[in-house]
Amino acid sequence: MTAPKQRVVIDTDPGVDDALAILLALRSPELEVVAITTVCGNVPVEQATQNLFRVLGLLKPPAGLLIGQGAAKPLRQPLQTATQVHGADGLGELDSFRNQDGSPRYPRPKPPRTLPTAQEVWGECLRRYPGELTLITLGPLTNLAIALETDPAPLRQLRSVISMGGAISVTGNVTPAAEFNIYVDPHAAQRVFQSGLPITLVPLDVTTKVALNRNEIQTLATGGSGPVPRFVADATGQVLSYTERVEGAPLFHLHDPLAVAVAIDPSLVQTVPFHVEVETEDQASMGKTRADRGSLGRAQKASSNIQAALKVDAARALKLFTERLSRK
Ligand code: RIB
Ligand code: CA
Repeated sequence: MTAPKQRVVIDTDPGVDDALAILLALRSPELEVVAITTVCGNVPVEQATQNLFRVLGLLKPPAGLLIGQGAAKPLRQPLQTATQVHGADGLGELDSFRNQDGSPRYPRPKPPRTLPTAQEVWGECLRRYPGELTLITLGPLTNLAIALETDPAPLRQLRSVISMGGAISVTGNVTPAAEFNIYVDPHAAQRVFQSGLPITLVPLDVTTKVALNRNEIQTLATGGSGPVPRFVADATGQVLSYTERVEGAPLFHLHDPLAVAVAIDPSLVQTVPFHVEVETEDQASMGKTRADRGSLGRAQKASSNIQAALKVDAARALKLFTERLSRK
């Protein structure tokens, strides 16, 4: 008897690793993706929505998939994107790839002129599936913070929240203090982490341990057939060049795919309860996730607000990812 599918909603700022995370989710029988919503982050939100539709064009999306477009800017900070990492389009400059006949390998889709907001989509999903939904956030937490501000009651019907973000015992990837998703909207993250929602954080502590090099990506791409494996090779080229230039080695960190993998198989990580506060005042450490565990007294332990993944079975996570992204 197979276990019932886990119903998930994905909030995303595609972004190359977001795109691979979405494909992983859609190719995993354990998950039923009922909605995907976009948020500003790696790219402006309109581009994120365009990129979402471009990724969905690679496969047959689930019937009835709800799509919403979320926040165009963080709660208070000016938007800082990551196009220097992901390419100007956020997906590794896909226009540069052509078929043999010269036609675009990844045609630009035309998203609907109007889309519901992220909060409207989430509200509909929570009405349909109270107590069943896992929200997987792959970008800044702006949409979730706005939902908490405007209509928090339905969110109590969430089964769980899995968020890629933060850096507990490692340095950040935007500043030494902060990880990108938290850095872009620290006020939203602070609001979300104090909300009491059942949050599992998937921070850089574990996502930086799950990476593929150029050869492993080529093996994945050539080992499979069809548009998805080829997309993995095409879309990651820009990020590999960036990490080679900036970090000295062409590595593709599976930040967002690991958050999806944790939804598929929570045993991939070991979590620890923390009380987490986000720095929202000091410019030098803006977006730092201050996790308090050691000094937690009995009363404070009760106030630990998130479970943070600090250990990962990287080999198993990579195996799950490569098997599911490489098959036809
Ligand atoms: O720090 C990594 C995170 O920031 C990932 O979600 C990546 O897509 C970027 O949004
Ligand atoms: Ca992301």
